[in-house]
Amino acid sequence: MTVDLPDLAAMDAFGARIAKCVRAGDVVALSGGLGAGKTTLARAVLRALGHPGEVPSPTFTILETYDDLDPAVVHADFYRLRDPGEVAELGLDDYREGAVLLAEWPDHAGGFAGEAQCLEIALESRGQGRRAVVRGGADWLGRMP
Ligand SMILES: Nc1ncnc2c1ncn2[C@@H]1O[C@H](COP(=O)(O)OP(=O)(O)OP(=O)(O)O)[C@@H](O)[C@H]1O
Ligand SMILES: [Mg+2]
Repeated sequence: MTVDLPDLAAMDAFGARIAKCVRAGDVVALSGGLGAGKTTLARAVLRALGHPGEVPSPTFTILETYDDLDPAVVHADFYRLRDPGEVAELGLDDYREGAVLLAEWPDHAGGFAGEAQCLEIALESRGQGRRAVVRGGADWLGRMP
């Protein structure tokens, strides 16, 4: 499935659509180059789930947690990992328990596409806006309206 995202309003609407169908244990793998819109879409999902405040980019902290949401969210930016093995040192599995993982630069963490609960979203430029190529794992079949 492809989704046209011509402007920031379209990012908000797409984020809200994702927020409606995420479940604990999911990974939303946000790929695309520098400035592709990964953080923008993660922010849209968090806002739609009811997070009222700022959403700092996890570029330096790598992980930001949003435990008060339902489902809880872990927002990650794996760009700075030098080896996918560092994911274990971060204790990612513990953070993911009962939460949705929004993952920027998922390939730097070894990728999550093998997981049934993974929703892969590849963002690319299209004129001034963006386009998303979306592919869900087995658990996502029929889930997204
Ligand atoms: N659909 C869109 N249309 C137009 N501009 C957009 C769209 N999505 C995001 N942008 C703009 O693109 C810029 C970069 O977005 P963002 O920071 O989300 O990218 P990123 O993929 O997280 O980058 P990085 O890899 O550096 O973390 C921002 O200024 C944002 O407002
Ligand atoms: Mg980002």
